[in-house]
Amino acid sequence: MSSAKKNYARITTKTLQEMKANGEKISMLTAYDYTLGGIVDQAGIDVILVGDSASNVMAGHETTLPITLDQMIYHASSVVRAVKRALVIVDLPFGTYQADSKEALRSAIRIMKESGAHGVKLEGGRQVKESIERILQAGIPVMGHLGLTPQSIYKFGTYTVRAKEEEEASQLLKDTKMLEEIGCFGIVLEKIPADLAGQAAHSISVPIVGIGAGNKVDGQVLVLHDMLGMNKEFSPRFLRRYSDLNKIIHQAIGQYSADVKSLNFPNDNEQY
Ligand code: KIV
Repeated sequence: MSSAKKNYARITTKTLQEMKANGEKISMLTAYDYTLGGIVDQAGIDVILVGDSASNVMAGHETTLPITLDQMIYHASSVVRAVKRALVIVDLPFGTYQADSKEALRSAIRIMKESGAHGVKLEGGRQVKESIERILQAGIPVMGHLGLTPQSIYKFGTYTVRAKEEEEASQLLKDTKMLEEIGCFGIVLEKIPADLAGQAAHSISVPIVGIGAGNKVDGQVLVLHDMLGMNKEFSPRFLRRYSDLNKIIHQAIGQYSADVKSLNFPNDNEQY
């Protein structure tokens, strides 16, 4: 194992396996549009997730459930047009893969064909095994997602930490192994105890990317707007804010408005 960071010109699912084998951590962030997708890519993030969190972040819904396949394809194709290096993965939205595996494959094919993304992510373990297998058989890379799976929020009833009890923890470890065995290239583990996430990461060879799952995993993912401090209300313990864009944007817009009203904008150099 070496901690040396290699310069990868283009990130693929194979690169991620290599990074795990070499002990290099994987950086992953969400993006939903062309402009921010381009900035995230140029800043050197390894994986860009066009998450169904777009339902909350971009559309203001309370949950991820309402976003549609067409809307995900719109967001994903905007991001893909901006990205030169990162691997772009797209969430299959709620209701597009659970009913049967043929529908799951049709949904995944639409994402790949119409957005140009490099793979899909979907939530769940054994319940969606057949859907994942069918998508994989078509040559589409799949990332799993276990632990707190927001599309099941009405089953959980709360966004609290998952798999604290023995039974759920042991099922999560079995599902992790199963996802590796059927051929997923990676797995997101969301909001579970750090030791359990570490145990999962050690027990399989494909990378595990955590969100609220501690530092014993192979990489980290956050929602871009949360880590940039765009959203003041959402403050879970796992979230580190790297900026206060809410304040910065607020100040800039306030200054612009004041300049317009005081005739300070535009000045002589800013007109024809
Ligand atoms: O939709 C999303 O943003 C996600 C991440 C939280 C992993 O699934």
